[in-house]
Amino acid sequence: MQGETGKRSAWVVAVDGPAGAGKSTVARLVASRLGLLYLDTGAMYRALALKALATGTDVADALRLVELLQEADIHVGEDPNRQLRVWLDGQDVTDAIRRPEVHATVAQVASVPGVRAGMVDRQRALAELGGVVMDGRDIGTYVLPNAPFKFFLTASLEARAARRHRELAARGFSVDPGVLRQEIVARDRMDSTRAVAPLQCAPDAQVIDTTELSVSQVVDQILAVVRGR
Ligand code: CDP
Repeated sequence: MQGETGKRSAWVVAVDGPAGAGKSTVARLVASRLGLLYLDTGAMYRALALKALATGTDVADALRLVELLQEADIHVGEDPNRQLRVWLDGQDVTDAIRRPEVHATVAQVASVPGVRAGMVDRQRALAELGGVVMDGRDIGTYVLPNAPFKFFLTASLEARAARRHRELAARGFSVDPGVLRQEIVARDRMDSTRAVAPLQCAPDAQVIDTTELSVSQVVDQILAVVRGR
C-alpha cells in the first residue's frame, strides 16, 4: 500500500447492480484491500424499512416515511473488531435488516423521493471525507456521478437467487427458492422502474458478470482497474 497512499483520497469507487449480484461482499473486500471507507447504502434503506416495520408504519405512506427518516439515527460502520455493523436508534440491527420481511418491503421504502433525498445527502457527506467504496443501485449514476471508478455487477437470476438462499439459510431462515426468485424479480423491477434514481448501469461503468466468478476473482478485477494495472 505504501506507494498508493497519496492517491487514496481520489479513490472513489462506485459499485452498483441488482439484488444478489455480490456487491456488498465484493465492495467490502475492495475497501479493505485499499484501506478505504466502505459504505453499504442498501443497509441504510434496510434500516429505515426495519424502523417502518417495527413502528407499524404503513410503507405506502410516503410522508410518514420521510418523517421517520428524519427521526431515525442510522449509523453504518465497524465495531471494535472491525466487523461491519448497522445501528438504528442506538440498537445493533445488523442481523435484523437481513430478515425476509425487510427484503420484501425495502424497495417500496426506497422508492420514496423524499427518503432518497435524505439518504443521498448523508451518502455524499460521507464521500466528502475522502476515499470510499460505496455500493448500491444509483451510486455511479446519481449519488457520485463523478466517481473515477464505476462497476456494475450482474449475475444470472439463478445464481443470484441461489446466493440469497444460502445467505438466508446461514442466518437460520428457510425461504422457498421459488418465492425468493419472485421476490428478487419484483425488487429488481421496482428498483429499475422507480421515478427517482432507478437502478441503471452508468454509461461509463465497467460491467462484471459474476455468475461464474468467485468473490476473489471479482475483487481482483476491480483492484486491477483501480490500481491501474
Ligand atoms: O443485498 P441486496 O443487493 O439484495 O440489497 P441491498 O443492497 O441491501 O439494497 C436493498 C434495497 O435498498 C434495494 O433493493 C433498493 O430498493 C434499495 N437501495 C436503493 O434504492 N438505492 C441504493 N443505493 C441502495 C439500495
